[in-house]
Amino acid sequence: MAVFEGATLAEARAIVARYPAGRERSSVMPLLYLGQSIEGRVTREALREVAELLGLTTAEIESVASFYTMIRLRPTGTHVVTVCTNLACALRGAKDVYEAAHRASDIPHGAELSEDGVISLHEEECMGACERAPVVAIDFAYHDEISPARVTELIQALRRGEVPAPSRGTAPRDFRHASRVLAGLEGDPA
Ligand code: FES
Repeated sequence: MAVFEGATLAEARAIVARYPAGRERSSVMPLLYLGQSIEGRVTREALREVAELLGLTTAEIESVASFYTMIRLRPTGTHVVTVCTNLACALRGAKDVYEAAHRASDIPHGAELSEDGVISLHEEECMGACERAPVVAIDFAYHDEISPARVTELIQALRRGEVPAPSRGTAPRDFRHASRVLAGLEGDPA
């Protein structure tokens, strides 16, 4: 079954049309975010269809998709929890925050997706908010100065179906919604 069809194919074509003739390939990122919003990650089929829309090869699209950690090529949970463990955050206890997040998410050892499919957890390099370390993002919305106890509370809230308020702005409903915002198809929830 196609990833882009009907209304979503129209949205994909509208994204391509935002760019001047001859520059259509600039739409690759929003197209990938659109595919991610539909399937909860970017599948092989989505890579192929984006390539077809842009007249590029699947390998060219994959080379872009695999570069960005905000594009998920692996099975992904309803929510993506990202813990910055780079220097400033590490100095303020980010490793303990990550370990608490791992325990609260009930993720099998060596995996990054919880068994109930609700949480994908991963470490990230500097997320550009060092003065608010340690920083955690939930579906790309930032939570500042997070302790192990606080990240546990946040993940428990997600597992109850709640959407915790971030430190700034408004949280997206989930990872798919955040991807749709990044595709420029809905207003920034912040
Ligand atoms: S080191 Fe964590 S936000 Fe910069």
